[in-house]
Amino acid sequence: MERNGTCQVVVGAQWGDEGKGKIVDVMAERADVVARYQGGANAGHTVVVGEDEFILHQVPSGVLHRDKECLLGNGVVLDAAEFLDEIDLLESRGIDAAPRVRVSNRAHLLLSYHKALDAAKEGHRGARAIGTTGRGIGPAYEDKVGRIGIRVADCGEPERLRELVEANVETKRGQLRLLGADEGDVTPKGVLAEIETWRERLLGFATDVSQRVARHLAAGRRILLEGAQGSQLDIDHGTYPYVTSSSTTAGGAAIGMGLGPKFLDDIVGVVKAYTTRVGNGPLPTEVESPLQEELREAGAEYGATTGRPRRCGWFDAVVVRYAARINTLTELAVTKLDVLDGFETVRLCTGYRASDADGGGEMDEFPANLALLERCVPIYEDHPGWGTSIAEARSWDDLPRAARRYLERVEELVGVPISRVSVGQSREQILER
Ligand code: GDP
Ligand code: IMO
Ligand code: MG
Repeated sequence: MERNGTCQVVVGAQWGDEGKGKIVDVMAERADVVARYQGGANAGHTVVVGEDEFILHQVPSGVLHRDKECLLGNGVVLDAAEFLDEIDLLESRGIDAAPRVRVSNRAHLLLSYHKALDAAKEGHRGARAIGTTGRGIGPAYEDKVGRIGIRVADCGEPERLRELVEANVETKRGQLRLLGADEGDVTPKGVLAEIETWRERLLGFATDVSQRVARHLAAGRRILLEGAQGSQLDIDHGTYPYVTSSSTTAGGAAIGMGLGPKFLDDIVGVVKAYTTRVGNGPLPTEVESPLQEELREAGAEYGATTGRPRRCGWFDAVVVRYAARINTLTELAVTKLDVLDGFETVRLCTGYRASDADGGGEMDEFPANLALLERCVPIYEDHPGWGTSIAEARSWDDLPRAARRYLERVEELVGVPISRVSVGQSREQILER
């Protein structure tokens, strides 16, 4: 197959919210097409342009550049009502999104019964709840893998659509009942009416995204693939079951776009200069109060999708080293380094010490066994802070020595070079090396 263009992938290398939206927005300058390949409206990608803040849930962050095409691949689960609202919101804010956005006709639809099931399942799990975003992601991917999902292409076949909805509604009602939840509007008529409110309009956005990307690549265009969530939320490689339901790692970019893996050129891992997680599950370097609150306030760590406070901890090199391996990261983009400006000491976790019950000793790999992970103790290295604002730094040499030393140590521990450092929310607050 002919290929004259390039593909760059941006993935989160921690637990999501690393600042992928900001990095994609910056990198989009040098791309022709920006695409999302997995996840759905669980994502919240923030981009600040001048005085304006945009939080994108389904539309790729490249949309804020007026001349970029934006694609949603087959790997995403599409909440069509939310998606169209997002397009309208962008248009109302002066961004001509509609003519530039296309959706894969192989993407699966996320319907309101998926959201009802998400809530019901979380309630049923009680203390073992995952802490999902409530956007219906798990139930929508369950249908996809269970081979009962409804795809964008089905919207063009009303008879087939009706049969699929009827078959699904039957089982969804049963599931909701078993979970003790209200079956309410989940009737064939109700669901078909829901789809009818956007069916025609959605079809106007539908296309064969895989084929479109192949043509772009043949024509020498540059594609930027925007991951959602983070490597530790990957369905296979994350802290299962406290994960999302898609392949968030770089391999997911190939599958979720209908693109061969040989075409992925650069794989950029986005990391915060510290660590956060929203939702439940292990977070080895989580810090105690009141330092936790100090980090949260300094970094404004509240979820972009749900507004929940994010749990905060120090940079965990075990996590990012693991992400480097499973994604074959070729470079790191470090964000929010400025958030550490006011800390006298900044800590880096270099490894984990297994508990005595587990034989002691240093573990330098991220374990599959969550019980083992919960029992281990992080090993820290303390670094002096830089005690000054770095918000104005625009080159490596502008950074204080202590900040450079911290970053060099991150590179050494992770084994991947840092290509970009973000020192604030805005587009300009970035330095490229
Ligand atoms: P994403 O989901 O990975 O795109 O990240 P989110 O948008 O959920 O969260 C990152 C937050 O940090 C957003 O509010 C960004 O505007 C903000 N942010 C990104 N980079 C920087 C940075 O370098 N410094 C500061 N202070 N904020 C940043
Ligand atoms: P972005 O793209 C951070 C988390 C949820 C929960 C788990 C499963 O903005 O980085 P889900 O709703 O996907 O079934 O929830 O995953 N989660 C995220 N955490 N950033 C995200 O996206 C997330 N999307 C899902 O909090 O723990
Ligand atoms: Mg986010």
